[in-house]
Amino acid sequence: MAQYIIEGGNKLKGKVKISGNKNEVLPCLAACLLTEEEIILKNVPGTADVEASLGIFQDLGVGVFREDGIIKLNCQKINKTILKEDLANKLRASILFVGPLLARFGKVEFPHPGGCVIGRRSIDTHLDGFISLGFKFSIKGDINKGSRNGKEFKDQEIFLDEPSVTATENMILTAALIPVTTTFKNCAVEPHVVGLCKMLKKMGAEIEGLGTQTLKISGGKKLSGCEYTIGPDNVEFGTYAIAAAVTNGEIEIEGEDLDGLEPIIKPFERMGIKFLKTDYGIKVTAGSLKAIAELKVNIWPGFPTDMMSVAIVLATQARGVTLCHDWMYESRMFFVDKLIMMGAYITLADPHRVLVSGPSKLRGKNLDTPDLRAGMALVLAALSAKGTSIINRAELIERGYEDVVNKLTELGASIKRVE
Ligand code: EPU
Repeated sequence: MAQYIIEGGNKLKGKVKISGNKNEVLPCLAACLLTEEEIILKNVPGTADVEASLGIFQDLGVGVFREDGIIKLNCQKINKTILKEDLANKLRASILFVGPLLARFGKVEFPHPGGCVIGRRSIDTHLDGFISLGFKFSIKGDINKGSRNGKEFKDQEIFLDEPSVTATENMILTAALIPVTTTFKNCAVEPHVVGLCKMLKKMGAEIEGLGTQTLKISGGKKLSGCEYTIGPDNVEFGTYAIAAAVTNGEIEIEGEDLDGLEPIIKPFERMGIKFLKTDYGIKVTAGSLKAIAELKVNIWPGFPTDMMSVAIVLATQARGVTLCHDWMYESRMFFVDKLIMMGAYITLADPHRVLVSGPSKLRGKNLDTPDLRAGMALVLAALSAKGTSIINRAELIERGYEDVVNKLTELGASIKRVE
């Protein structure tokens, strides 16, 4: 087990570079399965979820070349269409291998995907979408088996049950290869979904409606290799902004533009964080932090659920009462007992809502993290607390944040990692 040992109280200062988007790189890796030519992905974050995805590729027989944020994959030869349970269980995004394997080989076997335990996390929208497209499924024990349903593919319109991010990505990946035109309605529009579409267009796919809830995909063209650069991780951006604010510091976030970050920046500005565009990137300073009546997650362009845990730490340092509301996940909030142990004033109203009164003086503690985002929230709380904190199961944080110890150390934090 990895632990972070953090001595709180240092104001963060200096420059930090945001890594490639954790949730864009995963569907882009899956897109490599759609072509027999080489794909070069750049700005790939060094996260454990990327490692786990590469493990699946290797198990399928694909050679992986990796160097300094660049991955080269050639999926000309694939040895099998079975996702091994122990590998697929490592991450939710293993479900993204299902669409490409179905589209290319007409069959796949896979377990229910793993990932953070933050809620029910069904895959029904994926399965319903695949079934509408022309596939059928059976389940034996824990293993799902998918194959063609025996009928011809047909042009059609499919309304997704909910605008799920990974389900939308799976539909796009599948429809890009099957030889019909499919219009999907009620799609997710997160920047990482748009990023996947841009990459597929570079590969020669015909996709209309990028960034809207309706995507029209004319599939069946032979897709080629391409070079694609993963966009910046907006959740990591918001996380470092909060790190600066709760330590009363001042940091510059390299290379970022404010455009497109409004769903994250706007609520934080209302809470007193200042963002200033500079030649270098974005300067972040903490003004006097204040509560807002309600901070509620939504599908993009709403405030992202993946920012909620760290935003609760911001609310502990803001004057007044903030109602933090995450309707998406029923277990997201359950880590707040750790913040309460550290001295935060938080009332759990129900599984989806907490009332946070601030500002509170946090004290260092020995803490276990239940999931990736809660883990990073505990890191931020520890940075602003008095005394020493130990964050256990830190490898969960490394599933989604690249190089977190080095980045925070560069900014002046006292943090070390021990095994
Ligand atoms: N949901 C709804 N209504 C909606 C949209 C979603 O009820 O309109 C529910 C779903 O039923 C599910 C939950 O919200 O319980 C999450 O939905 P979704 O299926 O979209 O999640 P996902 O596609 O499995 C991706 C990210 C998650 C992120 C969610 C929501 C990847 C690999 N994962 O998951 O990322 O929380 O979208 O934005 O892209 C993380 O990075 O820490 C993480 C968990």
